[in-house]
Amino acid sequence: MTDRILIIDFGSQVTQLIARRVRESGVYCEIHPFNSLDASTLERYRPKAIILSGGPSSVMASEAPLAPQAVFEMGVPVLGICYGEQAMCAQLGGTVESSDHREFGRADLEITDDCVLFDGLWSIGSKQQVWMSHGDRVTGLPDGFRTVAVSKGAPFAAIANDERRCYGVQFHPEVVHTLDGAKLLRNFTHHVANCRGDWTMAAFRDQAIAKIKDQVGDGRVICGLSGGVDSSVAAVLLHEAIGDQLTCIFVDHGLLRLNEAEQVVDLFRDHYHIKLVHRDAVDLFLGKLAGETDPETKRKIIGGLFIDVFDEEAHKIGGADFLAQGTLYPDVIESVSFDGGPSVTIKSHHNVGGLPERMNMSLVEPLRELFKDEVRALGRELGLPDDMVGRHPFPGPGLAIRIPGQDITPERLEILRKADHIYLDEIRRAGLYDDIWQAFAVLLPVRTVGVMGDLRSYDYACALRAVTSTDGMTADSFPFEHDFLARTATRIINEVPGINRVTYDVTSKPPGTIEWE
Ligand code: XMP
Repeated sequence: MTDRILIIDFGSQVTQLIARRVRESGVYCEIHPFNSLDASTLERYRPKAIILSGGPSSVMASEAPLAPQAVFEMGVPVLGICYGEQAMCAQLGGTVESSDHREFGRADLEITDDCVLFDGLWSIGSKQQVWMSHGDRVTGLPDGFRTVAVSKGAPFAAIANDERRCYGVQFHPEVVHTLDGAKLLRNFTHHVANCRGDWTMAAFRDQAIAKIKDQVGDGRVICGLSGGVDSSVAAVLLHEAIGDQLTCIFVDHGLLRLNEAEQVVDLFRDHYHIKLVHRDAVDLFLGKLAGETDPETKRKIIGGLFIDVFDEEAHKIGGADFLAQGTLYPDVIESVSFDGGPSVTIKSHHNVGGLPERMNMSLVEPLRELFKDEVRALGRELGLPDDMVGRHPFPGPGLAIRIPGQDITPERLEILRKADHIYLDEIRRAGLYDDIWQAFAVLLPVRTVGVMGDLRSYDYACALRAVTSTDGMTADSFPFEHDFLARTATRIINEVPGINRVTYDVTSKPPGTIEWE
């Protein structure tokens, strides 16, 4: 059985980063909320070690979140991070107090004693840069613990109990500002917990194939293909596992980029020989979108139609027992929310959220344990071409949300496709594609005056957008050289009839969003 680490989540903003670091060191792990576990679920999970995350609460509060006591009685190593250290201390008989010295940001850690967590990294007496974010702090250690590092605001900045194999750090080793943080976590997983570090994408691929075969048996599976990374990787993985029991359905809504529909058909039908239904629904979608300019209405129309068409095609091929989806781990992790109340909907992204309910089939979700970059690694392992695996995200409603404030017509789509294609071509030529999270053109609802040769032009303006981001939640505009922008603008204006002005969007998110609608 693969070694597994359990991460117990107390609601920190950066819990996912702990999982990322652990997996990067070749060890499988999962995140579970503190209140979802009891002794029997812990027993069944059979972790090699447990990590307690940080969190926004105070151990001093009356209803403070705690780890199930069984965590400390299973005999497996435990590492408490920030709030996790405080909870561990409180639960094992130590004391925690509020401090007037809040430590936030970079801090100096002074190593005061040997510790297996510091092996090969930090020696006694040295100072190390770590990242802190805490108000409360440990003030009295439980029996059997010793202090191994201190900082200005935390007299027990790192603590150890080698006999119990329990460790605590007040800082956050999972964030990059703790310079050796990933190595420290590796010391915990590999040297304290003795994990083998053999969780690779090759191993995952074999396990996933066995799991799919086991789940599906001789049943039939359908899978929606969008041309994006997740559904593509899911489809190829499923095809390896069950061959012709899989049929993919590709609904072409006419809102894709230049040549994208052909590429999907070429790759999956002609190259991989996957059974593929290609439904050209362009007229249907554009017909229903005619006259609509409101972003949310457009999303609803597209999402609803997509489900109808998909369902129709699935019936035509005689239905299936399973619906495959490219759901990823970040969508699965149940986050712990302390502030209650739903957050405001800025945009309704779940375009096809209703599909599983409507179709009443069991779900196959072979990527639900993976982060996005792991899906890319799996795609490479499966031999998918690099330009497919490294693709920027593309929204479900496609180009419909990149023609803001105006009717979506074939002519406008055509203009936008050409401009977008030139922009991405220039980005690739400049070798910048992989440095950018997402880049695209937007056709603006405004015409401007220009001179082309000796003639007056009165054409559309287009905006270029490119952002850097790690998860799409926040983003910065990409700092292109001026020459690049000038060159791209010239090409677009010369090569795309209908556009005579190009602007670059420098808005960050927040306060902007990545898409214009
Ligand atoms: P925003 O514009 O909200 O975008 O900053 C964040 C990320 O989400 C994508 N996006 C969507 N994806 N359906 C999708 O599947 C949508 O309706 C949708 N709207 C935005 C956007 O492209 C970016 O990657």
